[in-house]
Amino acid sequence: MNAVFPGSFDPLTSGHMDVLIRASRIFDHVTLTVMHNARKQGRHLFTLEERLDILRGATAHLPNIAVDSFGGLLVDYMAQQQKGIIIRGLRAVSDYEYELQIAHLNRQIGEVETVFIMAATRWSFVSSSMVKEIASYGGDISEMVPHISAEALRKKFAEVYAERAQTSGGAAQSG
Ligand code: PNS
Repeated sequence: MNAVFPGSFDPLTSGHMDVLIRASRIFDHVTLTVMHNARKQGRHLFTLEERLDILRGATAHLPNIAVDSFGGLLVDYMAQQQKGIIIRGLRAVSDYEYELQIAHLNRQIGEVETVFIMAATRWSFVSSSMVKEIASYGGDISEMVPHISAEALRKKFAEVYAERAQTSGGAAQSG
C-alpha cells in the first residue's frame, strides 16, 4: 500500500525524518508532499523549491520514498494520485486534537484514511518553528534537523542578516 506524508516542511526536521523512516518500513511507497498555498507563501522561511531541494537531498538514500508538491486540498491530491493513506506524525498529546480534527475532515470530504505515527520521544519537543527560532539566533540545531536542513538554515539566516545589514547601512548612509 502507498502513503503520502504531507506537510509544510519549513524546514524538514529530525522528527519528520523519524516518522518518514518508520512509515517507509510499513508502507510499500511513501511520498513526501509539500502542501503549498499561494496565500500562505510569505509565511514560510523557505521557498517551495528550497523545501523540495531539502527533502530530495535528505531522502536520496531511501529507496521507497518520493518527493512531490501540491497546491490545493490534500484530499484532491490523494484522489488525483491514487495514493492511499495519509501519514501524520504525532509528537505529544497536544498534537492529537488538531490532527484528529483534520483526519476527520479529510475522511468526511474525501473518504481518505489517516494513519498516525508516533515520533521517537527524543523528537517530542522539536518543531520546524522552534528550530527556526533557535537557528535565527545562531543556536545549535544540528541534532534537531538533518544536515541538509541545518546547512540551508545557516545559509538562509546569513542571507537574512546580510540583507538587514545592507538595508540599515544604506538607511544610515542616506539619513
Ligand atoms: O506541516 P503542517 O503545516 O502541520 O501541515 C499541515 C498540512 C499542510 C498537512 C495541512 O494544512 C493540509 O493538508 N493543507 C492542505 C489544504 C487542505 O487540504 N486543508 C484541509 C485540511 S485542514
